[in-house]
Amino acid sequence: MCGIVGYVGRRAAPGLLIEGLKRLEYRGYDSAGIAMSNGHGLETRKAKGKISTLESLVNGNPIHGSVGIAHTRWATHGAPNECNAHPHTDCTNTIAVVHNGIIENFGALRTMLQKQGHTFKSETDTEVLAHLIEAALDGDDPLEDAVIDALNLVQGTYGIAVISSRDPDKIVCARKGSPLLIGLGEGEFYVASDVAAILQHTRQVVYLDDGEMGILTPQGYEVLDLNARRIKKGVSRIDWSLDEIEKGGFDHFMLKEIFEQPQTIQNTMRGRLVIEEGFSKLGGLNLSKEDLQSLDQIIITACGTSWHSGLIGELYIEENARIQTETEYASEFRYRNPIVSDKSLCVVISQSGETADTLAAMREAKRRGAKTLGLVNVVGSTIAREDDGGIYLHAGPEIGVASTKAFTSQVIALALFTLKLARLRNMSVVKGREIAEAMLALPDQIQSILDHAGDVEAIADRFKDATNFLYLGRGYNFPVALEGALKLKEISYIHAEGYPAAEMKHGPIALIDEEMPVVFVAPHDAVFEKVVSNIQEVKARGGKVICITSQRESVLEGMIDHEIRVPQTIDMLYPILTVIPLQLLAYYIAVKRGLNVDQPRNLAKSVTVE
Ligand code: AGP
Repeated sequence: MCGIVGYVGRRAAPGLLIEGLKRLEYRGYDSAGIAMSNGHGLETRKAKGKISTLESLVNGNPIHGSVGIAHTRWATHGAPNECNAHPHTDCTNTIAVVHNGIIENFGALRTMLQKQGHTFKSETDTEVLAHLIEAALDGDDPLEDAVIDALNLVQGTYGIAVISSRDPDKIVCARKGSPLLIGLGEGEFYVASDVAAILQHTRQVVYLDDGEMGILTPQGYEVLDLNARRIKKGVSRIDWSLDEIEKGGFDHFMLKEIFEQPQTIQNTMRGRLVIEEGFSKLGGLNLSKEDLQSLDQIIITACGTSWHSGLIGELYIEENARIQTETEYASEFRYRNPIVSDKSLCVVISQSGETADTLAAMREAKRRGAKTLGLVNVVGSTIAREDDGGIYLHAGPEIGVASTKAFTSQVIALALFTLKLARLRNMSVVKGREIAEAMLALPDQIQSILDHAGDVEAIADRFKDATNFLYLGRGYNFPVALEGALKLKEISYIHAEGYPAAEMKHGPIALIDEEMPVVFVAPHDAVFEKVVSNIQEVKARGGKVICITSQRESVLEGMIDHEIRVPQTIDMLYPILTVIPLQLLAYYIAVKRGLNVDQPRNLAKSVTVE
């Protein structure tokens, strides 16, 4: 969602903070701002639009100081404009606040503060924080005391960073429900909502937990709870390299991440496959053999692309381990009355590990007695820290808003988990070995698809002006159809629907005419013959058929307009191959439409609000 970065030290902060914001821009980007405390009061610059607009503003009208906070916004309350951009200040310009999250009782607090004489400049929920802190500032009391008083009145979620001209060498930050970490340097300290913002300066970080507050000065940092009691925190080391969060010669992060997949899925598998035994080693599950054998239900919960990988995981587990499994939207799961017991396992899938709905669903499952297992990419993220056990994806930072490499790594992690579970229950070693060997071949197979990306680009050129797309698949490839449609929607703004191929005749078939491109995900698997009938139905109505298949099929001759081949694998692993051309198709169509694929409109990389 939004991004926060702050700095205290001896260096000039503005350039450093703007650099940090650029690395966070993928989280949200409708406006941005920066505030500095420099011994002469607070100075603020804000701009609507991208960080580059803020940068030009600061270059034209410089701002000075070595203590500052900055923010890139993705609007929740109030239109995306300069006035609503963070940082927000109080009536006397003594306090500046940046905030991620939502203050749920901001209406009541705003009314109360207005009655006390406070004047509001923006429509945001965040501004109440600046005024609450202003109201709580008492004599020479330190800033943190006023922040504690203010936060005790607030309902909702927050990751905040605050500076004050009365305490000019200090940043106070606090977290409840929105990620925040402190970066440790030599005589300098950082606060950030995401490690990407500070990775070029430090790899030593302290993650704040909910209900914790950090106080940063050039002399050091401390962490307190909201009763001002000191908390001892461990320091974590971040292993991601700076290269990993840069574009590495590709035009866009999304393309770079698509092309990284041979390597990233290898990283997900590394050291975990035991070929001879057709088994997998997963150190972090925190589930004994007996636990795994006695499970009677698995709930998979996630959002968006991660939910699509969950649908594939459900098929894996039911087919191979014979455990009843349901995949649920996290946003729905948390608000119903699901059946969960202490024999349930809740598998939580999230690239970021910070998605608010997914985190809340995990907490709900825990509350109801389930064990939780997180499939998470971002090390140290909230889901990774709160789950009972986990499988890290090791896909490296995913910056493109459209998730690509996280999806294939999630499916691999689900296949690894299935292998372990199924082999402990009912799967033969021969079957386990067949799956493990097929998994090992996947990186080269993905590479061979990427080597022919130009063929997909040519198809993109042909269909870049389409206004609708239909994606159809069956079995393991139905979730791939959903994922292909989601990719196209989010970056090209073309309306697209994913559907089970055979369901088409129950309604969507009415949409088909000569203008409708229909993408069939039809590798040669157990349901291939069935999908052929569905292709015939589309062709008979004049639809334009783009078919992702796995081998030359004479039966398809004359029925398809464009063919994209993927290598052959076992049925369950086809999604890892068939999704690649769909990622490329969405990418090339968006580029040919002149759109910003890494920063599609209205979207944020991780959705940390409900
Ligand atoms: C995918 O391309 C999306 N941008 C989005 O659906 C995403 O997968 C979803 O918000 C879940 O994010 P997470 O995996 O970080 O929890």
